[in-house]
Amino acid sequence: MSDLEALFSAARSVRRQAYAPYSHFSVGAAVLDENARLHSGCNVENAAYPVGTCAEAGAIAAMIAGGGRHIRALAVAGDSLVTPCGACRQRIREFGDATTLVYGVDDRTHLKTFTLDELLPDSFGPDNLTREHRGP
Ligand code: THU
Repeated sequence: MSDLEALFSAARSVRRQAYAPYSHFSVGAAVLDENARLHSGCNVENAAYPVGTCAEAGAIAAMIAGGGRHIRALAVAGDSLVTPCGACRQRIREFGDATTLVYGVDDRTHLKTFTLDELLPDSFGPDNLTREHRGP
């Protein structure tokens, strides 16, 4: 299986673990890190609705816990095309770069590909906090 097919497959299979009793909207996400390792996560909802977490947040937390530090690519699996919410675009930005690829897939096919820069143009990231960007 190619790296990409393995990434899609990880996002599809973790989607089956989603805890989404309120929205009934199950999402799976998988991240390919700088060492070609995969990390996955699903949405975990909560009776206190705002406390629920997105699949992408879970996959990124798993990557960090597993020692990965850079997102080469991320796949989001849903019933149809699911694109990361605004907060998750910023989460991906922390560990990605403009060329990081974000794939939307369903159970059968790959639906659409974006670069992170398309999803979050003119973004604010870790570089903006370095001395060079802050001026004298
Ligand atoms: N959700 C994700 O997990 N990822 C996305 O990219 C979009 C939305 C979740 C959050 C919530 O549990 C459910 O989908 C409905 O918004």
